[in-house]
Amino acid sequence: MQAEFWFDSWERGGFHTSFHRRDIHPFVETHTPGERFVGSRVLVPLCGKTNDMLYYRQFARHVIGVELVEKAILQFFEDNGLDYVQNGSRFESDRLTILCADFMDLTPEDVGPIDLVYDRAALVAMPLEMRLNYIRAVDRLTPVGAQQLLNTIEYDPVLPSAPFSIAPEEVAAYYADAYDVDHLEAVVIPQHGMVRRWGLRFLIEHGFMLKKRQNIRPELLDPHLHMAVGDMVRARNRRLLELVEGAGLWPKGCEGAHPGVA
Ligand SMILES: C[S@@+](CC[C@H](N)C(=O)[O-])C[C@H]1O[C@@H](n2cnc3c(N)ncnc32)[C@H](O)[C@@H]1O
Repeated sequence: MQAEFWFDSWERGGFHTSFHRRDIHPFVETHTPGERFVGSRVLVPLCGKTNDMLYYRQFARHVIGVELVEKAILQFFEDNGLDYVQNGSRFESDRLTILCADFMDLTPEDVGPIDLVYDRAALVAMPLEMRLNYIRAVDRLTPVGAQQLLNTIEYDPVLPSAPFSIAPEEVAAYYADAYDVDHLEAVVIPQHGMVRRWGLRFLIEHGFMLKKRQNIRPELLDPHLHMAVGDMVRARNRRLLELVEGAGLWPKGCEGAHPGVA
């Protein structure tokens, strides 16, 4: 989505920022336990005002969030009663910095060394061409050995706007050549707010742990390649729908909003 879309979303609030969750995302606590990441430097691209940054700050050496819209950053500090000092585009608090910047423009010097990237509602927030730019930026900003906890949602029928449906095959197509990809979670969520709002036939939230082995080869981030993967996934979705329904995982008439609509 273009920058204006996000400025407008934060200006309007309410439904327009319903991606914000009040809780700590369960995948975060399960798959990035404090004891394994003590002393890490954690990068949170497209951070919004996520409380997950507070979870990481408890044990990380430093958490670096990146957010385009200043209003979201100010709300983060205000909502959490945290003091901060502003140095240009850097909002600095104890062991936490939020950069007010376009993530795609950052250099490794801007963020410093990174051990863990946490992506929730970032990769899925962008249409294909922008998404590939985002992946280039993540790859440029992280050293070999860095890990990434990545959440995506997969649903059908697909929508032409954020959050985009991203299946495990697409994650593999983007990252598997250069990263180890461990598919940790696939949670069917019939009560997710998007299901009711858009009449979705299924929605699955996926969690992955990636570990970087090498830089991504530029030719693998070609939009044509990924459009073909998207077609393949849509064919697979029809089979998945039959499986989900057949296994009774999708109760008929199920309603109710998910606490954090992605
Ligand atoms: C869907 S929200 C997700 C926020 C957060 N990750 C969460 O889980 O609540 C995407 C966020 O990315 C921000 N954003 C969009 N494009 C960006 C960019 N190019 N650079 C930095 N932030 C961006 C938006 O303002 C918005 O706050």
